[in-house]
Amino acid sequence: MLTVLNALKKTTEFLEKKGIESARVNAEIMLAHILKCKRLQLYLSFDRPLNDNEKNLYREFLLRRINHEPVQYITGNVDFYGLDFQVNSSVLIPRPETEILVETIIKNTNVNNETNILDIGTGSGNIAISLAKHLPNSKITAIDKSKEALIIAVKNSELNNVKERINFIENDILNDQKIFDNVFDIVVSNPPYVSKEEYKNLEPELNKYEPSIALTDFSDGTIFYNSISNQVKNFLNTNGKLFFELGAGQSKIVKEFMEQNNFYNIQIIKDYQNHDRVIWGTLI
Ligand SMILES: C[S@@+](CC[C@H](N)C(=O)[O-])C[C@H]1O[C@@H](n2cnc3c(N)ncnc32)[C@H](O)[C@@H]1O
Repeated sequence: MLTVLNALKKTTEFLEKKGIESARVNAEIMLAHILKCKRLQLYLSFDRPLNDNEKNLYREFLLRRINHEPVQYITGNVDFYGLDFQVNSSVLIPRPETEILVETIIKNTNVNNETNILDIGTGSGNIAISLAKHLPNSKITAIDKSKEALIIAVKNSELNNVKERINFIENDILNDQKIFDNVFDIVVSNPPYVSKEEYKNLEPELNKYEPSIALTDFSDGTIFYNSISNQVKNFLNTNGKLFFELGAGQSKIVKEFMEQNNFYNIQIIKDYQNHDRVIWGTLI
């Protein structure tokens, strides 16, 4: 008989041997998903035996994980800003750092105002949907070049009951004509910011499983910051705000792009590792 406790011990050892980081946490997340409970509840059910179906599914999950498939693609969901999001290999897995971007916008927006927001490169819709939830008077346009990502984003907006407030549009911000006619109060983007060089050396969880167009600009990592800073004045109100998530070491150059394009009062927010993570400014 394989109990929850024994299963966790065995799989943690197995994942560790295969070089998977945070083996115990991974083992717990997958088992909790199979048993349809919270991770914490596993600790209250150590003696519960697994049935054959549960054992087979756990085995299948483990094989996927040792091939470096991210645990979030295996379970198909992730928590972001306290909300549940579905994910698959068409979308970037929402990262905890991006919660700082969302938090910065919420802190600097009057919750009572009707705010028109544009999210560029929405992916799973995590930023747009979290903002819609926390800024109940906002109207959001969310664009992405990837049709497949937009399918997931729409589904997530339904799951989180904000579908009516978000207009999802397929649009390539670098090449397509702008098909939105609104002028926005806020533009936000967590763009693909990994350089072509860095992309080659990413761990397999990222460069084998996550969509390459979500991670890299296939250049020096600054293409989107430069292009968006440059064109945003065409669809951002005077005194409108532009918010970006930053990649490692990019704050100086992105600040320059923003200054060259008439943004002032530019502020940089650090993440928990003390890296510059969010930059934002106001359009003159
Ligand atoms: C770093 S991911 C961000 C996803 C999500 N917003 C998040 O924060 O987790 C970048 C997103 O930009 C999209 N993208 C890439 N190139 C694009 C382009 N030229 N125009 C619009 N979106 C693009 C990708 O499909 C991806 O969803």
